[in-house]
Amino acid sequence: MNIDWKTDEYGKKFSFVGEYGKGLVSLLSAGKGARVLDLGCGRGELTAYLRSLGYDAEGMDASESQLDEAKRLFPKIRFFREDITGFSTENPYDAVFSNAVLHWIDSEKQKTALVNVCKALKRGGEFVAEMGGKGNAEIIHSALKDEIMRRGGEYRHAFFFPDEKEYGDLLKECGFEVKYIVRFDRPTPLCGQDGIADWIEMFAAYELSALNEKDRRDCALAAQERCANKLLSPSGWTADYVRLRFKAVKPR
Ligand code: BEZ
Repeated sequence: MNIDWKTDEYGKKFSFVGEYGKGLVSLLSAGKGARVLDLGCGRGELTAYLRSLGYDAEGMDASESQLDEAKRLFPKIRFFREDITGFSTENPYDAVFSNAVLHWIDSEKQKTALVNVCKALKRGGEFVAEMGGKGNAEIIHSALKDEIMRRGGEYRHAFFFPDEKEYGDLLKECGFEVKYIVRFDRPTPLCGQDGIADWIEMFAAYELSALNEKDRRDCALAAQERCANKLLSPSGWTADYVRLRFKAVKPR
């Protein structure tokens, strides 16, 4: 699923996405200088981080607006527009890295995406990634669903949040050897007094599009209110994130 990103607001309120992604780099065992594809690079922060660590990293994304921002922020890095479900390359990578992206790919296209990642790797190349796992942001999505339906809209949930068995099996089916796969809760603090409503408007724009534009903010605020007993504390809002993190290798 591709959405129109509000890149400025993303940078201001959701930069934690890239910050958390830095921890994932420790799963890479490819040496410095290795060619790495940052799959779904967004604004390019993690591509730049990989380069700062000595990797020969380049970023790919399906969103024109995110890429424009990445090129503006990091003009020396190569960024290019491709959707992984249609991507192929004649110059395979040592590693593919991906943070908070794979859950955006429709479930019926997951297999195509993973086969394309595998083909884009050299033999022995590694795929290191993190995505939303089963149960991810369930409290938020369930509140949003109730609120959209109460307003007469149809709720369509577009994300793919698998568990470790389902995704591990899919990776194997697509040609990988799975070295490591784990699912864990990662409560994620959000900024601002309306952190959940802002999150909904940024990341659940597709679900909200079931309503008229003028009703969307009200709906997001009402959904936020429904989450208050579980996700609001004196320190602010926390999203109920669940992560699926893995390392898979293309056999030699
Ligand atoms: C996530 O990173 O878990 C996520 C981001 C946007 C929408 C849904 C989930």
